[in-house]
Amino acid sequence: MIAPSILAADFAHLADEADAVANADWLHVDVMDAHFVPNLTLGLPVVRSLLNSTDMPLDCHLMIEDPDRWAPGYAEAGAANVTFHVEAADDAVQTARAIRRAGALAGLSVKPGTAIEPYLEILSEFDTLLVMSVEPGFGGQRFMAEVLPKVTWARGQVKSGHLRLFIEIDGGIDADTIVAAAEAGADVFVAGSAIYEASDPGKAVDALRVAARAAMNPSS
Ligand code: DX5
Ligand code: ZN
Repeated sequence: MIAPSILAADFAHLADEADAVANADWLHVDVMDAHFVPNLTLGLPVVRSLLNSTDMPLDCHLMIEDPDRWAPGYAEAGAANVTFHVEAADDAVQTARAIRRAGALAGLSVKPGTAIEPYLEILSEFDTLLVMSVEPGFGGQRFMAEVLPKVTWARGQVKSGHLRLFIEIDGGIDADTIVAAAEAGADVFVAGSAIYEASDPGKAVDALRVAARAAMNPSS
Protein backbone atom coordinates (compact mmCIF):
# COMPACT_ATOMS: atom_id res chain seq x y z
CA MET A 1 0.00 0.00 0.00
CA ILE A 2 1.08 3.56 -0.68
CA ALA A 3 0.27 6.20 1.96
CA PRO A 4 0.94 9.80 0.87
CA SER A 5 1.84 12.03 3.81
CA ILE A 6 -0.08 15.31 3.84
CA LEU A 7 2.75 16.84 5.87
CA ALA A 8 4.18 17.79 2.47
CA ALA A 9 0.82 19.03 1.11
CA ASP A 10 -0.79 22.49 1.12
CA PHE A 11 -2.54 22.69 4.50
CA ALA A 12 -4.93 25.36 3.21
CA HIS A 13 -6.30 22.94 0.56
CA LEU A 14 -6.26 19.55 2.23
CA ALA A 15 -9.41 18.23 0.52
CA ASP A 16 -7.92 18.96 -2.92
CA GLU A 17 -4.58 17.50 -1.85
CA ALA A 18 -6.38 14.29 -0.82
CA ASP A 19 -8.19 14.17 -4.19
CA ALA A 20 -4.84 14.47 -5.97
CA VAL A 21 -3.76 11.11 -4.52
CA ALA A 22 -7.11 9.30 -4.62
CA ASN A 23 -5.34 6.38 -6.35
CA ALA A 24 -3.35 5.74 -3.15
CA ASP A 25 -4.41 3.36 -0.40
CA TRP A 26 -4.22 5.32 2.87
CA LEU A 27 -3.83 9.05 3.47
CA HIS A 28 -1.08 9.50 6.09
CA VAL A 29 -1.78 12.25 8.62
CA ASP A 30 1.13 13.33 10.84
CA VAL A 31 -0.10 14.66 14.19
CA MET A 32 2.69 16.49 16.06
CA ASP A 33 2.36 18.24 19.40
CA ALA A 34 5.63 20.24 19.72
CA HIS A 35 6.49 18.09 22.79
CA PHE A 36 7.15 14.55 21.59
CA VAL A 37 8.71 16.11 18.48
CA PRO A 38 9.94 19.68 17.92
CA ASN A 39 7.18 20.51 15.44
CA LEU A 40 3.47 21.30 15.55
CA THR A 41 1.00 20.26 12.86
CA LEU A 42 -2.67 19.49 13.38
CA GLY A 43 -5.03 17.58 15.63
CA LEU A 44 -8.46 16.04 15.95
CA PRO A 45 -10.54 18.97 14.56
CA VAL A 46 -8.61 18.91 11.28
CA VAL A 47 -8.78 15.11 11.14
CA ARG A 48 -12.57 15.33 11.61
CA SER A 49 -12.83 17.83 8.75
CA LEU A 50 -10.69 15.62 6.52
CA LEU A 51 -12.87 12.61 7.30
CA ASN A 52 -15.85 14.64 6.08
CA SER A 53 -14.13 15.68 2.87
CA THR A 54 -12.45 12.50 1.60
CA ASP A 55 -13.35 8.83 1.24
CA MET A 56 -9.72 7.81 1.65
CA PRO A 57 -8.91 5.77 4.77
CA LEU A 58 -6.94 7.98 7.17
CA ASP A 59 -3.70 6.65 8.60
CA CYS A 60 -3.10 8.84 11.66
CA HIS A 61 0.50 8.85 12.91
CA LEU A 62 0.50 10.39 16.36
CA MET A 63 3.85 11.90 17.32
CA ILE A 64 2.52 13.16 20.64
CA GLU A 65 2.99 12.79 24.38
CA ASP A 66 0.34 10.88 26.32
CA PRO A 67 -1.11 8.87 23.43
CA ASP A 68 -2.95 6.76 26.02
CA ARG A 69 -5.21 9.76 26.56
CA TRP A 70 -5.53 11.05 22.99
CA ALA A 71 -5.22 8.13 20.54
CA PRO A 72 -8.65 6.50 21.03
CA GLY A 73 -10.35 9.78 20.03
CA TYR A 74 -8.88 9.49 16.53
CA ALA A 75 -10.35 6.00 16.20
CA GLU A 76 -13.73 7.18 17.51
CA ALA A 77 -13.68 9.98 14.92
CA GLY A 78 -13.34 7.39 12.15
CA ALA A 79 -9.65 7.07 11.30
CA ALA A 80 -8.86 3.71 9.66
CA ASN A 81 -5.51 3.20 11.38
CA VAL A 82 -4.23 4.97 14.50
CA THR A 83 -0.51 4.64 15.22
CA PHE A 84 1.23 5.97 18.32
CA HIS A 85 4.82 5.82 19.56
CA VAL A 86 5.96 3.18 22.01
CA GLU A 87 8.43 5.73 23.46
CA ALA A 88 5.51 7.97 24.53
CA ALA A 89 3.01 5.40 25.79
CA ASP A 90 2.49 4.40 29.42
CA ASP A 91 0.24 1.45 28.62
CA ALA A 92 0.56 0.57 24.95
CA VAL A 93 -1.59 -2.57 25.24
CA GLN A 94 -4.57 -0.80 26.85
CA THR A 95 -4.30 1.98 24.28
CA ALA A 96 -4.20 -0.50 21.38
CA ARG A 97 -7.28 -2.23 22.79
CA ALA A 98 -9.14 1.09 23.11
CA ILE A 99 -8.28 1.96 19.48
CA ARG A 100 -9.50 -1.43 18.27
CA ARG A 101 -12.68 -1.23 20.37
CA ALA A 102 -13.43 2.07 18.65
CA GLY A 103 -13.22 0.30 15.29
CA ALA A 104 -9.80 1.27 13.94
CA LEU A 105 -6.62 -0.67 13.30
CA ALA A 106 -4.01 -0.06 16.01
CA GLY A 107 -0.42 0.77 15.11
CA LEU A 108 2.78 0.92 17.11
CA SER A 109 5.67 3.10 15.94
CA VAL A 110 9.36 3.06 16.82
CA LYS A 111 11.87 5.87 16.33
CA PRO A 112 15.10 4.97 14.47
CA GLY A 113 17.02 4.39 17.71
CA THR A 114 14.38 2.21 19.39
CA ALA A 115 14.85 -1.56 19.24
CA ILE A 116 11.80 -3.61 18.30
CA GLU A 117 12.57 -7.09 19.67
CA PRO A 118 11.58 -6.19 23.27
CA TYR A 119 8.04 -5.54 22.00
CA LEU A 120 7.43 -8.90 20.32
CA GLU A 121 4.82 -9.91 22.87
CA ILE A 122 2.78 -6.71 22.81
CA LEU A 123 2.86 -6.54 19.00
CA SER A 124 0.20 -9.27 18.93
CA GLU A 125 -2.19 -6.52 20.13
CA PHE A 126 -1.46 -4.41 17.03
CA ASP A 127 -2.39 -4.43 13.35
CA THR A 128 0.42 -2.19 12.12
CA LEU A 129 4.08 -1.71 12.97
CA LEU A 130 5.45 1.63 11.76
CA VAL A 131 9.23 1.70 11.48
CA MET A 132 10.52 5.28 11.31
CA SER A 133 13.32 5.69 8.78
CA VAL A 134 14.02 9.31 9.79
CA GLU A 135 13.90 11.05 13.16
CA PRO A 136 10.22 11.98 13.54
CA GLY A 137 9.30 15.64 13.27
CA PHE A 138 9.98 16.81 9.73
CA GLY A 139 9.51 15.77 6.11
CA GLY A 140 12.20 15.85 3.47
CA GLN A 141 14.93 14.08 5.47
CA ARG A 142 17.36 11.44 4.26
CA PHE A 143 16.28 7.77 4.44
CA MET A 144 18.12 5.83 7.18
CA ALA A 145 18.83 2.39 5.70
CA GLU A 146 20.19 1.26 9.08
CA VAL A 147 16.60 0.73 10.35
CA LEU A 148 15.89 -1.95 7.72
CA PRO A 149 16.98 -4.87 9.93
CA LYS A 150 13.91 -4.05 12.07
CA VAL A 151 11.70 -4.47 8.99
CA THR A 152 13.42 -7.75 8.13
CA TRP A 153 12.95 -8.98 11.70
CA ALA A 154 9.24 -8.08 11.68
CA ARG A 155 8.72 -9.74 8.29
CA GLY A 156 10.35 -12.87 9.72
CA GLN A 157 7.91 -12.86 12.65
CA VAL A 158 5.00 -12.54 10.23
CA LYS A 159 6.33 -15.29 7.94
CA SER A 160 6.78 -17.69 10.85
CA GLY A 161 3.24 -16.99 12.05
CA HIS A 162 4.22 -15.23 15.31
CA LEU A 163 2.68 -11.91 14.25
CA ARG A 164 0.04 -10.68 11.82
CA LEU A 165 0.82 -7.07 10.96
CA PHE A 166 1.17 -4.49 8.27
CA ILE A 167 4.80 -3.38 8.22
CA GLU A 168 4.91 0.32 7.42
CA ILE A 169 7.98 2.41 6.72
CA ASP A 170 7.98 6.20 7.07
CA GLY A 171 10.61 8.78 6.21
CA GLY A 172 12.73 9.48 3.14
CA ILE A 173 10.84 7.06 0.89
CA ASP A 174 11.20 7.75 -2.83
CA ALA A 175 11.38 5.65 -6.02
CA ASP A 176 14.91 4.53 -5.08
CA THR A 177 14.69 3.92 -1.33
CA ILE A 178 11.34 2.14 -1.64
CA VAL A 179 13.17 -0.75 -3.33
CA ALA A 180 15.32 -1.56 -0.29
CA ALA A 181 12.33 -1.11 2.04
CA ALA A 182 10.19 -3.50 -0.02
CA GLU A 183 13.00 -6.05 -0.27
CA ALA A 184 13.37 -5.94 3.51
CA GLY A 185 9.68 -6.79 3.87
CA ALA A 186 7.71 -3.56 4.27
CA ASP A 187 4.22 -3.55 2.75
CA VAL A 188 2.97 -0.03 3.55
CA PHE A 189 5.05 2.89 2.27
CA VAL A 190 4.61 6.45 3.50
CA ALA A 191 5.92 9.20 1.23
CA GLY A 192 5.51 12.93 1.66
CA SER A 193 7.92 15.00 -0.39
CA ALA A 194 8.40 12.33 -3.09
CA ILE A 195 4.67 12.56 -3.83
CA TYR A 196 3.62 16.14 -3.12
CA GLU A 197 6.71 17.77 -4.60
CA ALA A 198 6.17 15.84 -7.86
CA SER A 199 4.47 17.74 -10.69
CA ASP A 200 1.75 15.05 -10.72
CA PRO A 201 1.24 13.51 -7.26
CA GLY A 202 -1.09 10.80 -8.58
CA LYS A 203 1.55 9.65 -11.07
CA ALA A 204 4.15 9.64 -8.30
CA VAL A 205 1.91 7.29 -6.29
CA ASP A 206 1.68 4.90 -9.26
CA ALA A 207 5.45 5.03 -9.83
CA LEU A 208 6.13 4.18 -6.18
CA ARG A 209 3.70 1.27 -6.35
CA VAL A 210 5.35 -0.11 -9.48
CA ALA A 211 8.81 0.14 -7.87
CA ALA A 212 7.64 -1.55 -4.65
CA ARG A 213 5.84 -4.36 -6.49
CA ALA A 214 8.88 -5.07 -8.65
CA ALA A 215 11.04 -5.34 -5.53
CA MET A 216 8.52 -7.60 -3.77
CA ASN A 217 8.15 -10.00 -6.76
CA PRO A 218 11.41 -9.79 -8.70
CA SER A 219 10.16 -12.38 -11.24
CA SER A 220 6.93 -10.60 -12.25
C1 DX5 B 1 8.05 12.56 9.75
C2 DX5 B 1 6.68 12.05 9.32
C3 DX5 B 1 6.63 11.54 7.94
C4 DX5 B 1 6.95 12.57 6.88
C5 DX5 B 1 7.61 11.87 5.74
O1 DX5 B 1 8.07 12.76 11.13
O2 DX5 B 1 6.26 11.01 10.18
O3 DX5 B 1 5.37 10.95 7.68
O4 DX5 B 1 5.82 13.23 6.39
O5 DX5 B 1 8.04 12.83 4.83
P1 DX5 B 1 9.10 12.45 3.69
O6 DX5 B 1 8.47 11.39 2.86
O7 DX5 B 1 9.30 13.74 2.99
O8 DX5 B 1 10.34 11.95 4.40
ZN1 ZN C 1 4.43 9.91 9.57
